[in-house]
Amino acid sequence: MCGIVCYAGRQNAAPILLEGLKRLEYRGYDSAGIAILDSDQKTAHVVKSVGKVAELEKKLNLRELPGTCGIAHTRWATHGKPTEENAHPHTDCTGDLMLIHNGIIENFAELKDELIEKGHNFRSETDTEVLAHLVEEYLKGMDEPDLPEAVRKALGRVSGTFGIAVLHRNIPNKIVVARRGSPLIIGVGQDEFLAASDINAFIRHTNKVIYLNDDEMAILNSNNITITDLNLNKIDRELETVDWEVFENEKKGYKHFMLKEIFEQPETVENAIRGRIIESEGISKLGGLDPVLNRLKNLQRMVFISCGTSYYAGLYAKYLFEILTDLDVNVDFASEFRYRNLRIDENTCVVAISQSGETADTLAALRESRRKGALTLGLVNVVGSTISKETDAGIYNHAGPEIGVASTKIFVSQCTILALMALLVGRSHHLSINEGIRIIQELKKIPDYIKEVLKQNEAIRELASQFLNYHDFLFLGRNLNYPIAMEGALKLKEISYVHAEGYPAGEMKHGPISLIDSHFPTVAIATQDYSYEKMINNIQEIKARSGRILAIATKGDNSLSTIVDDVIYVPRTVEVLQPIVNVIPLQLFAYHVADLKGRDVDKPRNLAKSVTVE
Ligand code: M6R
Repeated sequence: MCGIVCYAGRQNAAPILLEGLKRLEYRGYDSAGIAILDSDQKTAHVVKSVGKVAELEKKLNLRELPGTCGIAHTRWATHGKPTEENAHPHTDCTGDLMLIHNGIIENFAELKDELIEKGHNFRSETDTEVLAHLVEEYLKGMDEPDLPEAVRKALGRVSGTFGIAVLHRNIPNKIVVARRGSPLIIGVGQDEFLAASDINAFIRHTNKVIYLNDDEMAILNSNNITITDLNLNKIDRELETVDWEVFENEKKGYKHFMLKEIFEQPETVENAIRGRIIESEGISKLGGLDPVLNRLKNLQRMVFISCGTSYYAGLYAKYLFEILTDLDVNVDFASEFRYRNLRIDENTCVVAISQSGETADTLAALRESRRKGALTLGLVNVVGSTISKETDAGIYNHAGPEIGVASTKIFVSQCTILALMALLVGRSHHLSINEGIRIIQELKKIPDYIKEVLKQNEAIRELASQFLNYHDFLFLGRNLNYPIAMEGALKLKEISYVHAEGYPAGEMKHGPISLIDSHFPTVAIATQDYSYEKMINNIQEIKARSGRILAIATKGDNSLSTIVDDVIYVPRTVEVLQPIVNVIPLQLFAYHVADLKGRDVDKPRNLAKSVTVE
């Protein structure tokens, strides 16, 4: 989604900002822009373009942009199409003020009417442009232009969410940034300050950061930084050192980041469990949860809230926790949870699952849970993200940056850590030590099981090539494998643009079966567990209607190949962990279908890596 990068220092700002924008590309966007202030010449340059950052780069003559202070943005369209006019930075009527914005200004229409009445000239369809004119309006009334004060007044008029950065031609070397509901992190370097909506934008320059909280502002120039609240009262803030891997813009020989991340998964699981298991006691040790262990022991209810792939990890957790703990377990899409009258109290633990830690719906649901007194936990990948900061306690994935928009390794990491959490809670309640040990022993073997599936990559590509002409797919799974069917369908549709539906297999005969014919293939997760016989019945029902079936089956299950059309075999593990192995061939299948169709696998159309609007 939209991305912000700012620089105030002694070096030329443009190359640093461009590099920052490139590091934000993975988030998904449709246009980009940059504004550079040359304080010596008292000139400002604003350049924008539709499409990739490379297009913007072509338009920039870096030698003609000598300023050491600037702001840059990638836009993911919400209000108005992806055009140059709608791209950020937006300027005021004079062109002297330049502003970039992430989030949504909800009352922009009434503010726009008011500003038009006062004679302001609007050039875009965006909600953001009102902010530029509003700041201009407040600057107009000042004897001495005071940018922070004008920004303060303007923000006092808006409702909605914002992460903003503002520059003014007549106010040299000063960038004002502010946030509410949209992340902003300040990077502190040697004689330079950076600000960005995502730490990846500047982590190569510095790992010394200041996290801005909601309703805070920062005023940056090359010499110093001042942090204030939105009333300009100064705030003291500690400098933090972040332990976050610099992601290389390299795919290490892989054609796409998604494929690289799929192949990283054995290591992802190792990183997720490293130092977190006590095998002899059949229990996990999750340091991040130590401060809340007593509350966890006395829990009655767990609720998992998340979106997209992270929601399917939550759905897996629901089945898992029901098996391994004696709690009431619920899962909900964060966007739905927020408006429901669920019973949430101090005996409830709400777990927010999020790769980015910034998903607006998940954050809003989390805040609602806190309001109702729940214990809140986060399972988050991005260190220092808003969700990780707003929960009572939490666990990091330690999976490194995930660049492909389609989540793969983080899903596997989430499921692994949720299994560790279920063990921790289960063993503090009623789960036996033997059962705990059995699960841990198998958990340690999961990286090898994944490697075994990855060896079939070429065969899965060959199989995928036979499915390119189908327009619809059904994915079926039962119980613990139902979330995996949903995730398999999501992977396929989001990167290949082919319609795919995930269903609990038992539901098929209550409707979707009418879709089945020789043009509508089914991917059936049919590994051997207690629901295997029922799954075979479903498969027979599909075959009886000429439906083509690709099955995910347990290695050694030779009988299935006589019923279905195609099979991918996976190693067998304990039932509660089998889904973590079963999802791997579905990721590879989706990847190869999309790649063979020539799709932009890492940056599928319309999607963003981090969804920071509700
Ligand atoms: O950062 P989050 O895990 O909170 O993101 C949630 C979803 O937006 C994300 O999983 C999305 O569905 C991906 N495109 C899935 O591949």
